[in-house]
Amino acid sequence: MTLRRVNLIILVLLAVAFLIIVERNLLNLSDFLHTEHPDAEVILPFESELAPDLRLHLARKGEEIPVLISAAEDRLGAVVAAMNSVYQNSKANVVFTIVTLNDTVNHLKEWLTKTNLKNVKYKIVIFKPELINGKISKDLQTVDATKPLAFARFYLPAYIPEAEKAIYLDDDIIVQGDIQELFETSIKPGHAAAFSDDCDSASARGIIRGAGNQNNYIGFLDFKKEAIKKLGMRANTCSFNPGVIIANLTEWKSQNITQQLEHWMELNTHEELYSKTLADSITTPPLLIVFYKRHSTIDPMWHVRHLGTTGAGNRYSPQFVKAAKLLHWNGHYKPWGRSSSFSDVWDKWFIPDPTGKFHPMRRHAGDS
Ligand SMILES: *[C@@H]1O[C@H](CO)[C@@H](O)[C@H](O)[C@H]1NC(C)=O
Ligand SMILES: *[C@@H]1O[C@H](CO)[C@@H](O)[C@H](O)[C@H]1NC(C)=O
Ligand SMILES: *[C@@H]1O[C@H](CO)[C@@H](O)[C@H](O)[C@H]1NC(C)=O
Ligand SMILES: *[C@@H]1O[C@H](CO)[C@@H](O)[C@H](O)[C@H]1NC(C)=O
Repeated sequence: MTLRRVNLIILVLLAVAFLIIVERNLLNLSDFLHTEHPDAEVILPFESELAPDLRLHLARKGEEIPVLISAAEDRLGAVVAAMNSVYQNSKANVVFTIVTLNDTVNHLKEWLTKTNLKNVKYKIVIFKPELINGKISKDLQTVDATKPLAFARFYLPAYIPEAEKAIYLDDDIIVQGDIQELFETSIKPGHAAAFSDDCDSASARGIIRGAGNQNNYIGFLDFKKEAIKKLGMRANTCSFNPGVIIANLTEWKSQNITQQLEHWMELNTHEELYSKTLADSITTPPLLIVFYKRHSTIDPMWHVRHLGTTGAGNRYSPQFVKAAKLLHWNGHYKPWGRSSSFSDVWDKWFIPDPTGKFHPMRRHAGDS
């Protein structure tokens, strides 16, 4: 580096420092740092004013971006990492609605209030498992507490009644882009939601050997059943992944989307309308039926998925994963588990559990 350039850099740094000092004195910083949470701490060490994420400490104003996410007790680490990634990568006024079971509320609150997430705006709503009684088979309700919560997305307008537009996110995702951009996904008139199609080029790369042939309707629905035949849907229609949803709640309500979804859930408990191989996506078939040819699309880079399926991880280059706006570890291999692709990316957003109950499982030297 030449001496001239060093001088220039020093000059710029001095100018920045000067401006900061002037600003601190002229503007009343406490006005600046006003937050919506009266109990949130707003102590800012002087050093952090030079940090690029200064704005993240400030209260967020402007248009609210409602984000629904569900929180299962055994996966709270995932929820926390997902929320952290959304929050840190945007300066938008994000408001999370976290749907969870009664027994998880205290644990979740501790995690959110005793860590860096304490300034994040959120509300916790309790999912009543009775809501879906009789609509999914009994063993699903009792065997795995994660599963009933998967249906929370069917009730978006019930959980976020005041909003016109909202985002739903699965817990096994990390957002790397500015969520504002996802929120601005346009939903066509008459559509209640936007999803990411399984045939788009970005995710199709992961599908080829990773997730089997589940990129069309026949992978999810039993087209031999009369109730399905009657709908006249084409079996080779490209399916979509409901792990990320942008919804127009006005349309959702006026089209009675929730009731339609419940209808198909109920029907399935009598008739087994869904393909049998669907361990991971019991919520997908009703959505595929109700939104058949009636949904808008999400930018493929905003839902790069199959990171949790075997082989898929190897199909993505590190550069591609870095460029993705949103990563989804759908499939069996979760980034908090023992062996998943790109778990180092997830680790960057994970915040350790202050109660010590949740630990990511990691391969230690000698394990393999
Ligand atoms: C700064 O603002 C706070 C409240 O907004 C007020 O109580 C305080 O007096 C102000 N200080 C100055 C120096 O203006
Ligand atoms: C919810 O949990 C609290 C304790 O955390 C308990 O007092 C309350 O009875 C529970 N409510 C229900 C409906 O189970
Ligand atoms: C949602 O749908 C309603 C009714 O069709 C429409 O008036 C409104 O503009 C839509 N809002 C958004 C954000 O797309
Ligand atoms: C939605 O439900 C209401 C009441 O249950 C009914 O009056 C209305 O016709 C339904 N709308 C549609 C589009 O099915």
